Amino acid sequence: MPQCSISTAWEVNTATKNADSTVMPDFMKTEVTHIRPDIRRLLQSDQPDLVDFFNRTDLQTRRLRFCSQVSDDYVTSYAEGLVSSDSVAYGAFTDQALRGISELRILPGSWPRTAEIALMVEPDWQERGIGDALFDRVLTAAQNRNIKSIYMLCLRENKRMQHLAKKHDAILQFDIGEVEAALTPPWPTPMSLFYEMFTETRDYLQLISR
Ligand SMILES: CC(C)(COP(=O)(O)OP(=O)(O)OC[C@H]1O[C@@H](n2cnc3c(N)ncnc32)[C@H](O)[C@@H]1OP(=O)(O)O)[C@@H](O)C(=O)NCCC(=O)NCCS
Repeated sequence: MPQCSISTAWEVNTATKNADSTVMPDFMKTEVTHIRPDIRRLLQSDQPDLVDFFNRTDLQTRRLRFCSQVSDDYVTSYAEGLVSSDSVAYGAFTDQALRGISELRILPGSWPRTAEIALMVEPDWQERGIGDALFDRVLTAAQNRNIKSIYMLCLRENKRMQHLAKKHDAILQFDIGEVEAALTPPWPTPMSLFYEMFTETRDYLQLISR
């Protein structure tokens, strides 16, 4: 119900965004260090980590994710059912700890194929590029599954998510309390298919060799 990549802490960009501090909003004035997390598809065996991850999130992060206040029991049961046959979920890991997830849930029977996406990053790890990297990965998954429409719902106050959606060419539609983002992934290409096949095989081999 989604309502409403490769080494650890490898610094790829330290950007100071305060070129003109008189006109920039506050969030752009801070120095941000982006990292490149390991991103891989989540499996049933990740369920305990998913439950821990959801239970580490604060009330505000959960509210932004589910567009309402949700309890520990709710997120626990959500985390337990997250890896399922009608969804593709990715996890972002640093030092083998789960820090963020993205979900692609294909709407059963939809034609052309339609899906919903949702993202969540652990509060202490936000604003470091993890959400952006997870967004890229889930879009490639949608492209390779021939999904023609993607929807994402977030609260109107969730400017960060709206910024990320626009950055990935989403069209935003504003409602009273919520914003719906619509995306149209491109057709699959040999390169996008190869990329997914290669990374999933590599990730699987890494997992079984531990
Ligand atoms: C939304 C969320 C997934 C983003 O993940 P993240 O790792 O913090 O995002 P990133 O660091 O990759 O990117 C954030 C971007 O938003 C921008 N941003 C931050 N605050 C902003 C604001 N108030 N207004 C506009 N843009 C903002 C950042 O500058 C950055 O842009 P850039 O990539 O162009 O530099 C994460 O904050 C989160 O988990 N939020 C709670 C759950 C949620 O809201 N889920 C979405 C509903 S499905």
